Amino acid sequence: MDVREDKYEKIVKLAKRRGFFWEAFEIYGGVSGFLDFGPLGVLLKRRIIDLWVDWFVKREGFVEVETPLINPEVVFEASGHLESFREPAFKCLKCGRRFRADHLIEEKLGLDSVEVEKMGLKELYDLVLDKGLKCPECGGELGEPYYFTTMFKTFIGPYAEDVGYGRPEAAQGMFLAFRRVLDLKRGKLPFAIAQVGKVLRNEISPRQGPIRLREFTIMELELFIDPEDVECPKISEVEDEVLRIVPGDVRAKGGEEPLELTVRESLDRGVVDMEWLAYFMARAKQFIRELGVPEESQRFIEKLPWERAHYSSQGFDQEILLERWGWVEVSGHNYRTDYDLRRHMEHSGVDMTVYKPLEKPIMVEKTQVKPVYEALRRDFGDEMGEVLKLIKSVKPEVLAENLAEKGFVRLGDFTVKPEHVRVEKITVEEKGKRFIPHVVEPSFGLERVVYSALEYAYTEREGRVVMSFPVSIAPIQVAVYPLVTKDGLPEKAWSVYRRLLDEGFEVYWDDSGSIGRRYVRSDEMGIPLALTVDYQTLKDDTVTLRDRDSWRQVRTPLAGIEDRLRIFFKGRISFEELGEPV
Ligand code: GLY
Repeated sequence: MDVREDKYEKIVKLAKRRGFFWEAFEIYGGVSGFLDFGPLGVLLKRRIIDLWVDWFVKREGFVEVETPLINPEVVFEASGHLESFREPAFKCLKCGRRFRADHLIEEKLGLDSVEVEKMGLKELYDLVLDKGLKCPECGGELGEPYYFTTMFKTFIGPYAEDVGYGRPEAAQGMFLAFRRVLDLKRGKLPFAIAQVGKVLRNEISPRQGPIRLREFTIMELELFIDPEDVECPKISEVEDEVLRIVPGDVRAKGGEEPLELTVRESLDRGVVDMEWLAYFMARAKQFIRELGVPEESQRFIEKLPWERAHYSSQGFDQEILLERWGWVEVSGHNYRTDYDLRRHMEHSGVDMTVYKPLEKPIMVEKTQVKPVYEALRRDFGDEMGEVLKLIKSVKPEVLAENLAEKGFVRLGDFTVKPEHVRVEKITVEEKGKRFIPHVVEPSFGLERVVYSALEYAYTEREGRVVMSFPVSIAPIQVAVYPLVTKDGLPEKAWSVYRRLLDEGFEVYWDDSGSIGRRYVRSDEMGIPLALTVDYQTLKDDTVTLRDRDSWRQVRTPLAGIEDRLRIFFKGRISFEELGEPV
C-alpha cells in the first residue's frame, strides 16, 4: 500500500475495485459532480436509507411521500429559491472557466469561510483586485463576480414558456402535500412528512468527489407543529445525550471549540431554541454513531445569520470529521417557522391553516368577502359558478389583501378585480382559531453519509483492507464458501447459500481461489461473516463462521442458523455467541 495516499484516495480506489462507486460517464471522460453507485454501493445506500426510515419515520409514527423531481417555476418563486438559491461566481476572461467565488478566495487567500460567506459581490471583487488573484487554471484575469442560480432549469412539455426546475430539496414537495396529509391525520398536529429522493444542484465547480454532487439523495423530514405548543413529548428520551455544539456567538468570534452539553443543558442555556430541534439533533447524533462514526468525530455548528438558508430562523449543521475534507456537513437542522406554508398560501391562494378549538370562545374581527353577482355575471357569464367556487376556496383575508395591493387576483384562468366582490369587516364569536403550522426540519445528504460510513469503516490489517462496517449496515451479510470444489462440498455449500437467500439475507457466493484469497475479498467488501462448508459439514451438519474484524472462528450447527444470524444482525448477540470456538 502506498503510504502517501490519504484515506480518500484509498477509498476511491477500493470503491472502484469492489464496486461501491465511481465517476459517472467514465467512458466519455466523466462529468464532475455525478457518480455511479455500483452493486455494493447500492446495497450500502439502501441499508442506510432503511435505517434512516426506521429511526426517523417508522419509530416516530411519521409518514413518507414521494413527490416530483421537476417542479414548475411557481413552486420556487413561492419558496424563495429562485431569489436565494444562488452562489457568487467568477468567470475567467481568458479561458472562460467559472469558479465559485467564495471557495476560490478561501482557498487561494487562506481566508476564513465565516468571513468570506458574509461578503457581497463588491467585497469579493475588491479582494481579487487588491490581491491580484488570477484564474487558477490559466492565470487569466477574473471578471466581475455575479450570482449564479444553482438550480437546474428545464422546460416542461414542448413550450419554452413552461419553465421548470429540478428540485434542490425535497421539502417543497412535502409542503405541497401538507393539506392532503393533514386530512389523513384528521387535522391533528404534530405530524411529520418524510421523503427520501433525488435532488439536483448545479454546483459551479464541484471537485470533492462524493462530498459535493450535482445530483444526490436527500433524506428529509418536515415536522409540522402548533407554534403555541412547541414541546416535544419525547424529549425525555434524549435529555441526557451529550451534543458537541459550536454556538453561533462562539463562531462569530472565530471560535471552533465545541461545548459539550446535554440536550437538557442546550435547551436551558438557550443554545438550541426549540425542543424538537434538539430532539432531532440528538437522534441524528445517535443515527450517525450507529453508522460507525464515533461521537468525538461529530459536532454541530450553529449557522450564523448570513450563512443560514433564507427560510431558517435557527439552524445547525451536523458535521463529521473527514481526513481529506475536514469537518463536512452531513445533515442540516432548521427551524423553518411558518415561512414555507405562508409563502405557498400567498402564492397559490390556498388555505394552509389548521383549526384548533379554543378553551374559551373569543370575539374577533374578520374579513368577509361577498360576491357581487351582477359584476361576476357580466364579466364571466357561464363561467361565473367556477369563479365563485375559486373565490370561496381562498382565505378572505388573503383575497382582500391581494386585491388591495395588486388591484386584482388570479384564480385559475380568471382575473378577479375589486368590483367583483364586496370586502367587509365583521365581528364574530370564535370557538376555535386557525393558524399556520411551524416547521422543524432535519435533512440528511445520503451520499455524504455513505462516504463517511466508508471512511470510518476503513481499516488496514496485516497490510490489507478490512471494511469494518457495523453489522446493521454491512451491504452483504454472509459469504458462503465451499472449502474445496470437490467431494460434494460445492453442492452442500450451494444449498446453504440458497437457504440463506430464501430467508432474506444478503449473501455472497465465492468458490474461486484459496480460502485465504476469498477472505481477503470478503473483508474488503465488508462482509461481517464468512461461512465455510468443509468435510466435517458432511459428517455432522455444522459449519465454521469467521468474523471479519477479529478473524476468529466458531463452529455452529446448520440447524436453526437463520434465527441465530437474524439476532446477530440485529446486534442482540455477539459473534462468540454464534457457536463454539474453533
Ligand atoms: N432542505 C434542506 C436543504 O435544502 O438543505
